[in-house]
Amino acid sequence: MKLPGYALLLFALTACFSKIQEVSSHGSHGWQDDRDLETTIERCDTAEAKEADIATQQLVVEKFLSSPDEVDIEANIMIPVCFYVISDDTGKNKLSNGDLQRQLDALNTAYGSSSCCNTTLSWCAPGTCSIKTGIQFAVAKVNANGVLVPGATVRDVSTSGACVFHVVNNVWAYLDSGDEMEMKTALKKGDAKTLDVYFTDLRALGFTFYPWAVTPGSIKDGVVVKASSIPGGTNTRYNEGDTLVHEVGHWLGLSHTFSGGCDISDGIADTPPQGNAYGGCSPATRPDTCPGGGPDPIFNFMDYSLDACMYEFTLGQALAMRACYTYFRRGRWENDIIDLQFGEQSDPFNLIPRERQVFRYMIQGNTTCTISANEGNADMYMNLLSPPSWSSADLCVKSNLGSAESCSTGAFSANEFVQEPTKENETGLFRLLIRTLAGLLRRAFADVEDPAPVPSQSPTQSPVQQWTEPVLLYVGVLAVGSTPVQNASVLCK
Ligand SMILES: *[C@@H]1O[C@H](CO)[C@@H](O)[C@H](O)[C@H]1NC(C)=O
Ligand SMILES: *[C@@H]1O[C@H](CO)[C@@H](O)[C@H](O)[C@H]1NC(C)=O
Ligand SMILES: *[C@@H]1O[C@H](CO)[C@@H](O)[C@H](O)[C@H]1NC(C)=O
Ligand SMILES: *[C@@H]1O[C@H](CO)[C@@H](O)[C@H](O)[C@H]1NC(C)=O
Ligand SMILES: [Zn+2]
Repeated sequence: MKLPGYALLLFALTACFSKIQEVSSHGSHGWQDDRDLETTIERCDTAEAKEADIATQQLVVEKFLSSPDEVDIEANIMIPVCFYVISDDTGKNKLSNGDLQRQLDALNTAYGSSSCCNTTLSWCAPGTCSIKTGIQFAVAKVNANGVLVPGATVRDVSTSGACVFHVVNNVWAYLDSGDEMEMKTALKKGDAKTLDVYFTDLRALGFTFYPWAVTPGSIKDGVVVKASSIPGGTNTRYNEGDTLVHEVGHWLGLSHTFSGGCDISDGIADTPPQGNAYGGCSPATRPDTCPGGGPDPIFNFMDYSLDACMYEFTLGQALAMRACYTYFRRGRWENDIIDLQFGEQSDPFNLIPRERQVFRYMIQGNTTCTISANEGNADMYMNLLSPPSWSSADLCVKSNLGSAESCSTGAFSANEFVQEPTKENETGLFRLLIRTLAGLLRRAFADVEDPAPVPSQSPTQSPVQQWTEPVLLYVGVLAVGSTPVQNASVLCK
């Protein structure tokens, strides 16, 4: 089913996107005392989203919406999960498989259509429920050697082969930043598509990294939560498992609903703007910190409310999470190749971090390609005959392009270009051409970059000529860094 209304949402998001300006400081969360607020617990230690983070998330959504095959909310995204419980030798943080299963179930409830407010609380009208995000979670599978079986899942946390590990370590059981990488390096099993969850003890309730801020699947990628925050845990008022729900929201690219303040909020069109975090659960005195958009989203999983209040994701948030999972975690980096004429400027394009765009030209003679962009950093790769390999093996690599950079193919000897082909074997001929051109062009570049260039021709060779046959030139642009490349354009002539 295609979602109608998404076009409108896109319009709203785009409007919002262009409105991004300075994000005001929101380090202090503006606690007020007249409500049932929690002031002693730090709810979340994930870095507050900055302007560039919100812009990245919005750009991913835009791209997702313009690829209609992906906007299929009926197709569940099933995310494999690995659990690591780190207790100490006194038994602190110890969780049973039953505890972990309840946490997994709470996660699935929150992201499914059965996430409703708790009817035992006076303010909850029965039947007040959230939307279905189309995202669900299942226990990942490891083989007999404890190695992840990519994409495979098992029935529950107690099934043999479940990616569930109970570890005793007195240092990691009180995690501080110095131990984080050591712990993750020792324990992590998951790949880019897998959610690794570490249950331990730490100052905040939990933390993670946006999917553009770390390389998905790298050691650092994953979610850390306080073991006592699981459903039925000992962390009073934060023990319905919503800490993990919230951190997974970040892991899937969501900001706090108040991250950007009243001006840009969280960059999601259908969450009301919110000036600062709400730390309680007293809906009768629900705040309204920003003009327009209605009262603050205190029921949203991405606010700072007590677990009792949290039960909601919006359609816009679901879309953003699906888009981020598709791009960053399923690795949809490579766009279709765009064919351009020699001398033709490309349409302006935007790339999210790690996204790639390849342009193809038919050229005949030394060609120079120039890229320009308003914002962000990109690397440019050039190759003849085949698309770039995105490595130093390519013919021209320019790293960290600033405002404008260029790369040239150089020239080569037509004599060497038409060396005797191997039989009537086209593959062989093709390979030979690549080898020959690659060798020549690499030499040409070495000459260009060498401060004391050697003469370009040896006396025994014929002089360098323009080549006689047209050749395919591929120009690849790769967004690097953690912010999008915006309004980029490529021109080869
Ligand atoms: C609903 O609220 C009651 C009372 O606070 C609490 O005991 C119960 O655990 C809550 N239910 C869920 C599913 O969190
Ligand atoms: C190719 O063109 C560029 C830009 O005009 C020039 O700097 C370079 O020297 C040329 N290379 C050769 C080998 O002609
Ligand atoms: C063509 O050449 C390639 C590379 O030299 C070789 O692997 C392949 O077997 C050849 N094919 C035929 C049909 O000769
Ligand atoms: C995008 O770049 C082009 C030049 O490449 C420039 O003319 C245009 O004004 C830029 N657009 C924005 C919105 O910055
Ligand atoms: Zn958070």
